[in-house]
Amino acid sequence: MSPPEEISDEEAMAAVDEVIALKPISTVLIVIAMQTEALPLVNKFQLEEDTDACLFPQKVPWVRYHGTYKDLHIDLVWPGKDPVLGVDNVGTISASLVTYASIQAFKPDLVINAGTAGGFKAKGACVGDVYVASDVAFHDRRIPIPVFDIYGIGARRTCPTPNLLKELNLKVGKLSTGDSLDMSLQDETSILANDATIKDMEGAAVAYVAELLSVPAIFIKAMTDIVDGEKPTAEEFLENLVMVTAALDQAVTQVIDFITGKCLSSL
Ligand code: ADE
Repeated sequence: MSPPEEISDEEAMAAVDEVIALKPISTVLIVIAMQTEALPLVNKFQLEEDTDACLFPQKVPWVRYHGTYKDLHIDLVWPGKDPVLGVDNVGTISASLVTYASIQAFKPDLVINAGTAGGFKAKGACVGDVYVASDVAFHDRRIPIPVFDIYGIGARRTCPTPNLLKELNLKVGKLSTGDSLDMSLQDETSILANDATIKDMEGAAVAYVAELLSVPAIFIKAMTDIVDGEKPTAEEFLENLVMVTAALDQAVTQVIDFITGKCLSSL
């Protein structure tokens, strides 16, 4: 009998990645920041709210809905509301925490971060458009020291989905993430440097955690406001939130229908 062939760690990891990429996707985690964005999808997929408090630490406001839709197990998590102020826990901190805890608890094959975002008309975005992000980066983590500057921007490619993009009529653009709804001049400079079409408050944080835990992630963002337009952002966002959520709901349903029965390598 010949001795087993030695393979390097890199070769072993590539082989594992290949097996994972060829395995049908059976569990999807959808991370959504706002209740208004989450509830239409909870109803569409007939998900049930989890009352088993053990999965998340006691007393956190995070909410998990789960169920099976067309053979796909779906966990949808929303970071809940601030217990004092009663508003949605938007932004990178809550998104990171809930993504980390949910990946650990539910072991998804794929993360989908879905939500509303601002778009740049200079890059072709209109209110109501739905984009899939090709890349993500931060625009408010400025660390002007060599290499830390690149770390702060945290640019990454998202999981490639060429077949999904071909099949569904979704636009593709780069996403820039920061913890403010408005845009300072410094943010604007960074967003331009990130070549972004889309601006949100969670995407790059979800991408960071997903990569940390080796789970592929995709980003579906519906435009509520035009960042480089005439209207004040907060006003335009609130005016369009409910209407644009319907477009988001439709796009996420199309994406879930497309994913069902497929493996990562055929997305
Ligand atoms: N979510 C919706 N619109 C946004 C914007 N303009 N910036 C950041 N997040 C958003």
